[in-house]
Amino acid sequence: MSELVGAIDQGTSSTRFMIFDGDGAVVAMDQQEHSQIFPRPGWVEHDPVEIWERTTSVIERALAGAGITVSELAAVGITNQRETTVLWDRKTGEPVANAIVWQDTRTADLCTELAGEAGVERYRSRTGLPLATYFSGPKVRWLLDTHDLGDRARRGELAFGTIDSWLAWNLTGLHVTDVTNASRTLLMDLVTTTWDSDLALEIGVPTHILPEIVSSVGEIGECHGPLEGVPLAAMLGDQQAALFGQACFAPGEAKNTYGTGNFMLMNTGNQPVTSGSGLLSTVGYRVGGQETVYALEGSIAVTGSLIHWLRDNLGIITTAEDVEDLAASVEDNGDVYFVPAFSGLFAPYWRPDARGVIVGLTRFANKGHIARAALEAAAYQSADVLQAMTTDSGVELSELRVDGGMTTNGALMQFQADLLGVDVVRPVVAETTALGAAYGAGLAVGVWPGLDEIRGLWAEDTRWSPQMPDGERARLHARWRRAVERSLDWA
Ligand SMILES: Nc1ncnc2c1ncn2[C@@H]1O[C@H](COP(=O)(O)OP(=O)(O)OP(=O)(O)O)[C@@H](O)[C@H]1O
Ligand SMILES: [Mg+2]
Repeated sequence: MSELVGAIDQGTSSTRFMIFDGDGAVVAMDQQEHSQIFPRPGWVEHDPVEIWERTTSVIERALAGAGITVSELAAVGITNQRETTVLWDRKTGEPVANAIVWQDTRTADLCTELAGEAGVERYRSRTGLPLATYFSGPKVRWLLDTHDLGDRARRGELAFGTIDSWLAWNLTGLHVTDVTNASRTLLMDLVTTTWDSDLALEIGVPTHILPEIVSSVGEIGECHGPLEGVPLAAMLGDQQAALFGQACFAPGEAKNTYGTGNFMLMNTGNQPVTSGSGLLSTVGYRVGGQETVYALEGSIAVTGSLIHWLRDNLGIITTAEDVEDLAASVEDNGDVYFVPAFSGLFAPYWRPDARGVIVGLTRFANKGHIARAALEAAAYQSADVLQAMTTDSGVELSELRVDGGMTTNGALMQFQADLLGVDVVRPVVAETTALGAAYGAGLAVGVWPGLDEIRGLWAEDTRWSPQMPDGERARLHARWRRAVERSLDWA
């Protein structure tokens, strides 16, 4: 049997197709960005048809570039930006509107209305989630209401899915979602891992339009089109895929991914742990018919996308990498702090009323300080989340596994280690999101016999150890907390 496994990584900013060999090494890869559509302040959309076209294109280009034919792939996995909501016509396969992206805040009023007197925690015991604009359920309701589609939905003419479902539908014709993606809808019971019809009724989503929930790892169906004949054998939300790709298979093991946003997940074993500190309880993964593995998650909406904002909206850098030199042009942050609450603040604050602020400006400050503050914001937000994680789990991490595009920035990773007071460790394959989906698919078809073999493939590349004195760490973090206060109560 071939040992090559493919992974579609459909992210917020771009789509990748990657091919890995039996050692978990990258054999081929192609990547393309797609349009970010901002119709109004706070609204973020993607075109689902464009996403499918990009997906087809990166698959074809990666295969052609490496001289590999589809028949050489043992299996393929999908990993995806989570919560982003697509509604399409079952007959024609046409989306009824653009996808509403996870960062979009248009459902703020709807969420307030749904929360009512019971408040935003009303669904936490059933779903593990606070009622927030982040999640899919209210986005579906918004689409149905706005486009007057309630009747068509009730007649079963429409299908809802997050991006995993949308891609699986286009590849296999099946209407499925995996349990990790389903756990982000506010519609799934976290313990039974089935749709909760009471929740669906309350949020206003007819159950007819919901996909079938499947395990994250296991043969789902056969692909057509660009992956003709290849088994689709894994689907995982991108952050859960990174947890899998970092081989965090034991309770207490955690990773932090630095992409468009930052997402820290800790494996909590076969029980969901309820957070009292602003984290989410979510499904980590489920392998075939085995017990579900849960995770605690700290989601941060804006980290890497702030560097893109410096590039695209301020124009003070021309490529994301340029931020390194600009930030290094100043000695320190000059007491400037940037709280990038562009979609409100997610974990651990959950404040939809927050908006972005830059504080501490004086005549001394320059664009170097702003670049520095933008980078440091990723580290400060991660430190807030790690504190919450320690409180909720009772686990003191001895080191933090990291991955994602921002981890190429060594100065940032050193600052992160300094701020956390624990070692920060990056593995050889930093594309852990795609790797996790490939591991899942390969596991399902027998490329890897079990999780132990996958764990054995994890290899350390770089380690950053804390060098900052405790007093300085505490001083900086206290300044950051004051800056966060300045961002609240604006929208
Ligand atoms: N040298 C750098 N320093 C800091 N940030 C960087 C650097 N290079 C890239 N980035 C940031 O890293 C991010 C890209 O990371 P990554 O490739 O992991 O994201 P992604 O997987 O494409 O995101 P998504 O999955 O959300 O589409 C970009 O937002 C970019 O601004
Ligand atoms: Mg990604």
